[in-house]
Amino acid sequence: MKEMTRRDFFSAAAVSGLGLGLAGVLTGCNGTKVKSFDMAELYPVYKDGSYQEKNFLHLINKPGLGLEASVIQNHLGLYHNYVKNVNRAEREMVTGNVNEFSMKHLAFSLNGMALHDIYFSNMTTEETKRSYALDDAIKGTFGSFEKYMKNLTELAMQVDGWSITAFNLLNGRLFNYALKHHSDNFPNFVIPILALDVYEHAYVAQFSKEGKVEYIEAFKKTINWDLVSRRLEAIQNLT
Ligand SMILES: [Fe+2]
Repeated sequence: MKEMTRRDFFSAAAVSGLGLGLAGVLTGCNGTKVKSFDMAELYPVYKDGSYQEKNFLHLINKPGLGLEASVIQNHLGLYHNYVKNVNRAEREMVTGNVNEFSMKHLAFSLNGMALHDIYFSNMTTEETKRSYALDDAIKGTFGSFEKYMKNLTELAMQVDGWSITAFNLLNGRLFNYALKHHSDNFPNFVIPILALDVYEHAYVAQFSKEGKVEYIEAFKKTINWDLVSRRLEAIQNLT
């Protein structure tokens, strides 16, 4: 596993915006070896020159998730296209083919791929727990877990896109951010640790447009807090 200095990381984060050029690199801080993580489990995987589409088929026909099979199935089709389109956009960019598609999808589909990766990988029917570090970070910003979840929900209700929890590398704090679509309103130097998809494609077919709150409540019950905690721990190792 390759080591990465803090300076290397910030350079990558500045370039990517999302800071998700992370696969296999979060083992070092200032050149010092620290705890390593299975980054393929926590974040998207970039291998052999392309982003890898992960297999989330196990989420289909899992009644405990509260999402119909057809909703998940359609959603996985969109994720497939984001992976395909960001890979195509990067190929076109590096071969000097600057065009409308590559300019758009270099960011739009990168975010679409990465946020869906976090969204799907974070769904579980298992009982999971927040770490002390995650609770501390939540309380440090929001005062309590309840206020944090209220904020995440309020942001989700405001947008057609995403409500995410992310670690802000500039101030070392957790915030929720509301993203319009995949790319709009996405700040630099923040790394997502939880992603709630509130595009209409995520819920309308099952819950109807008026059922957004119901969908969000169902989502909250599926959050894998163990995974969210480990994402935070991995990111905090950098600061
Ligand atoms: Fe989505």
